[in-house]
Amino acid sequence: MKPKMEILREKIEEGKLGGGLKRIETQHKKGKLTARERVELLMDPGSFEEIGALVMHRTREFGMEDQKFYGDGVITGYGTVNGRLVYVFAQDFTVFGGSLSETHAEKICRIMDMAMKAGAPMIGLNDSGGARIQEGVRSLGGYADIFYRNVQTSGVIPQISAIMGPCAGGAVYSPAMTDFTIMVENTSYMFVTGPNVVKTVTNEEVSSEELGGASTHSTKSGVTHLTALNDMDCINQVKKLLSYMPQNCEDVVVKHPYTLGDEIREVLETIVPLSANQPYDIRSVIEGICDIDSFFEIHKYYADNIVVGFARIAGRSIGIVANQPMSLAGVLDIESSKKGARFTRFCDCFNIPLLVLVDVPGFLPGTDQEWNGIITNGAKLLYALSEATVPRCTVITRKAYGGAYDVMNSKHIGADMNYAWPTAEIAVMGARGASEIIFKNEIAAAEDPAKKLLEKEAEFAELFANPYTAAERGFIDEVIEPKETRKKLIKAFAMLENKVAKRPRKKHGNIPL
Ligand code: HXC
Repeated sequence: MKPKMEILREKIEEGKLGGGLKRIETQHKKGKLTARERVELLMDPGSFEEIGALVMHRTREFGMEDQKFYGDGVITGYGTVNGRLVYVFAQDFTVFGGSLSETHAEKICRIMDMAMKAGAPMIGLNDSGGARIQEGVRSLGGYADIFYRNVQTSGVIPQISAIMGPCAGGAVYSPAMTDFTIMVENTSYMFVTGPNVVKTVTNEEVSSEELGGASTHSTKSGVTHLTALNDMDCINQVKKLLSYMPQNCEDVVVKHPYTLGDEIREVLETIVPLSANQPYDIRSVIEGICDIDSFFEIHKYYADNIVVGFARIAGRSIGIVANQPMSLAGVLDIESSKKGARFTRFCDCFNIPLLVLVDVPGFLPGTDQEWNGIITNGAKLLYALSEATVPRCTVITRKAYGGAYDVMNSKHIGADMNYAWPTAEIAVMGARGASEIIFKNEIAAAEDPAKKLLEKEAEFAELFANPYTAAERGFIDEVIEPKETRKKLIKAFAMLENKVAKRPRKKHGNIPL
């Protein structure tokens, strides 16, 4: 008779094969790695400790008693990524298509509970055919157990979902409630109802890729924050994302080593064009301000009139929310407000200071925007910034008009340090529009109305289209030369390092959802 330890070792080795070599081959043929390969890639070499490797399902119906696999279609455990503790689950498509059984769900819940107790990030590598059909409601219950934990965990530890295969039906709601979702191009999809149901209900013909592939969700719906070329790229991006975050809401991000030097950046002097209506890429400003190659853009292809992402400034991790004059003149609309608000709230949950760059002509007018709720949605960004207690700095590079001035991290809603470049125009609206309204009668009565309008426009611009009136009132702390911006922000964020901001006691606020 074999010694017990040997039997155990054999079982573990068998479990590592998932649903068998043939299915592993099929997974590879689809351009996908196996769950185990993904976990190995994610974790520091030799750091992964598996939990529940010998778990099997308990289903007897549909001949399932004869089809059992160690691990039951999900690998769970903990290890380190760049030396930091993380918890992971990786669904194994080679076992019943990675479908979620009661025991599969129990394993995920266990690891989520452990991550919560230890205060460490939770990473989900999703690749699943959804609810294990043979298990019926037991599987649905398992999903709900996970959803519940996603919510309890939200704001306590960072949660990242990598979608590396199918993710359909109610299963999509777990990733949707995590902090970041990253989808692999061409091999992953997410939808609530698949192409067949869509065809039956709406008569639309659509492929899985078109309905819920990475490109759809990164551009049209914004469901995914990031996309990856393949599994390897996906895992690398998960690691990169983690590097900007703390372990939990009580922790702060470890600073990268940085020795202060000459922090003047001449390149910032020539980015804003002379004409107020000419576009420029706000990413050039971000790159000029932040540490070299540190900017990691989130939601790059969605609502591109606002740019959000992580960066470092003198080694310190910060979140950036910036109007993008290159797209729709940087106007705020429904999608960009939601995008900015979501990112702001993540940073605030996890003690990541915020830098807001402002060049905004206002909110987008039109029936489309009004009927679809620009009021409620625009309020999301206003609410998110107003409630954020992390260090918050603002730089107005050019326009800060109307309500958008207030929304974009103004002093009035709790920003700590507000800077403006000399090119800043802080006013209710642009000089021309304003002159047309307030000098309407005078212009109409003029001998040459066009000339009069120009005169009035210049008069208005002189008075209001500058940062000095706001600075006089203390709404702007300092008007700075663009080249000094990095230096000023390094000092400001260092000064704000131990900021404490208390909010009134409440259960939770009621953000306009
Ligand atoms: C049990 C499943 C399964 C499932 C796949 N398999 N999905 N077993 N429950 N949900 C099994 C298959 O029988 C097959 O087993 C193996 O996994 C691989 O599946 P294939 O179909 O061969 O793979 P592929 O061609 O790549 O297609 C993948 C797929 C397809 C598109 C995901 O399997 C599929 O449509 N599955 C059903 C999806 C679904 O309707 N799920 C329920 C959604 S509702 P063998 O032994 O042949 O290898 C839902 C509700 C959640 O999830 C609600 C939460 C609140």
